[in-house]
Amino acid sequence: MNKYNALLNTLREGIGASHVLTEGNLSAYEQDWRKREHGKALAVVRPASTAEVALVVKACVAAGVSIVPQGGNTGMVVGSTPDASGTQVVLSLQRMNQVRKLDAANLTITVDAGCVLQNLQETCEQAGFLFPLSLASEGSCTIGGNLGTNAGGTQVVRYGNTRELCLGLEVVTAQGEVWEGLTGLRKDNTGYDLRHLFIGSEGTLGVITAATMRLYPLPASQLTAFAAVPSLEAAVQLLGLAHKYLSAGLTGFEVMGQFALSLVTKHFPQMRVPFAGEAAYCVVLENSDHESEDHARAQFERLLEAAMADGCVLDAVVAENLAQARALWHIRESIPLAQAQEGLNIKHDISIAVSRIPDFVRETDAALGAAFAGVRLVNYGHLGDGNLHYNVQAPVDSDAEAFLKNQEKHVNAVVYAAVQRYGGSISAEHGIGSLKLGKLEQHKSPVALQLMRSIKTAIDPQNTMNPGRVLRR
Ligand code: FAD
Ligand code: MLT
Ligand code: ZN
Repeated sequence: MNKYNALLNTLREGIGASHVLTEGNLSAYEQDWRKREHGKALAVVRPASTAEVALVVKACVAAGVSIVPQGGNTGMVVGSTPDASGTQVVLSLQRMNQVRKLDAANLTITVDAGCVLQNLQETCEQAGFLFPLSLASEGSCTIGGNLGTNAGGTQVVRYGNTRELCLGLEVVTAQGEVWEGLTGLRKDNTGYDLRHLFIGSEGTLGVITAATMRLYPLPASQLTAFAAVPSLEAAVQLLGLAHKYLSAGLTGFEVMGQFALSLVTKHFPQMRVPFAGEAAYCVVLENSDHESEDHARAQFERLLEAAMADGCVLDAVVAENLAQARALWHIRESIPLAQAQEGLNIKHDISIAVSRIPDFVRETDAALGAAFAGVRLVNYGHLGDGNLHYNVQAPVDSDAEAFLKNQEKHVNAVVYAAVQRYGGSISAEHGIGSLKLGKLEQHKSPVALQLMRSIKTAIDPQNTMNPGRVLRR
């Protein structure tokens, strides 16, 4: 029996044959969300407990087989699917989806890593709390994947990235040991904070099996406005006013370029987009208020009056009720899907100091327009965090696959050189995966890269965990 068959037998005995998938259509586990790569797994294993995850890791280490941890497989950078070798084990956390404990007085919730984000939000809301992490993929992404990527989303301007929401982790190490760090403590200066090593490590250091996350009181009111602005400069000016007038109530500030919105109207014609085609950009803003809805509305009115007087808002609507608020957010959240329907595209998930974003976009739009005739720029994102999805769609009626094959490298060179000049980051929230390996090497300092390699080697000397992601094999 070869080592792979022996391993599969051990896994079947350990977690049950029906949870070691080797046959049938495994595309949901083997292909990434953007359909950039289709790999081949030796097996997809679906353990149901931390002990079973530890068993899987130990068995794989003993066999010299590497592991790809996977949550909802919604990642954007090809990090959660196997390579094409047919020799990697995909370790899916889907069956580990229980809430372990909600501690109301401590304002924390402890959950299995495979909990789907939306289920977690709903559980918290039913208990009278807010779990603020919010992404358009929340119906299928998992808290383990959110931690693995240190996901951002649409509430970062107030609550921070997933890292800021995490107060403890349980991790199965690359040797198959269990580190129980679910303390839920807000203060703990007892040496290196291991939690922060695993958050954002994209499955390359260990498997997160559970987490203790911060909760917040539910606000009395969450109001949403949709504003038309004449330029990106105006959007930045509006952001400054929103900070001033709403203060900590500002929980969302998203920008959408006109072309991005036109893709939504094209691919989802049933969706009503306010100010469609009327303004260079639109902004979705959210005001969460702990006093009352009237108070939130009055604050919004003062903000929008001031913004119109300054000329940075052309027109705006404020949602009258929850259904309208959801519909406005839905427009923003539909952009990635509309873009995917338009065809293969080149994504850039970049961050730059908010103050410098308009210059960056003007300069880079011009450079791309001059170098790649007819290229279409899909620009939207989390302006409140200085994070843009500055994406490039192939020219109309061109062969998108051929465009990506021939031009992606050159397009990236233009965009990332500008990001570097502007002191920005080549990955604000999506991570590195395998898609941005080369970019990381070009843009991270040699000292930082060496420190990262040292950490990887110390924690995972056999390179079992997600090899070839974040760092080269
Ligand atoms: P996966 O895709 O399964 O995995 C992602 C990475 O984490 C992989 O490297 C994987 O190996 C690792 N991983 C997964 N689970 C674990 C675990 N338990 N332990 C250790 N490592 C693990 N991202 C944002 O940041 N902001 C957004 O606004 C946003 N919006 C999105 C909208 C859409 C429509 C889509 C499709 C994606 C969006 N994303 C966004 C990207 C994606 O949803 C996030 O990266 C999310 O955090 C991934 O979660 P997941 O469970 O799907 O993880
Ligand atoms: C978003 O903000 O919509 C996401 O990060 C997904 C994307 O960039 O397409
Ligand atoms: Zn995003």
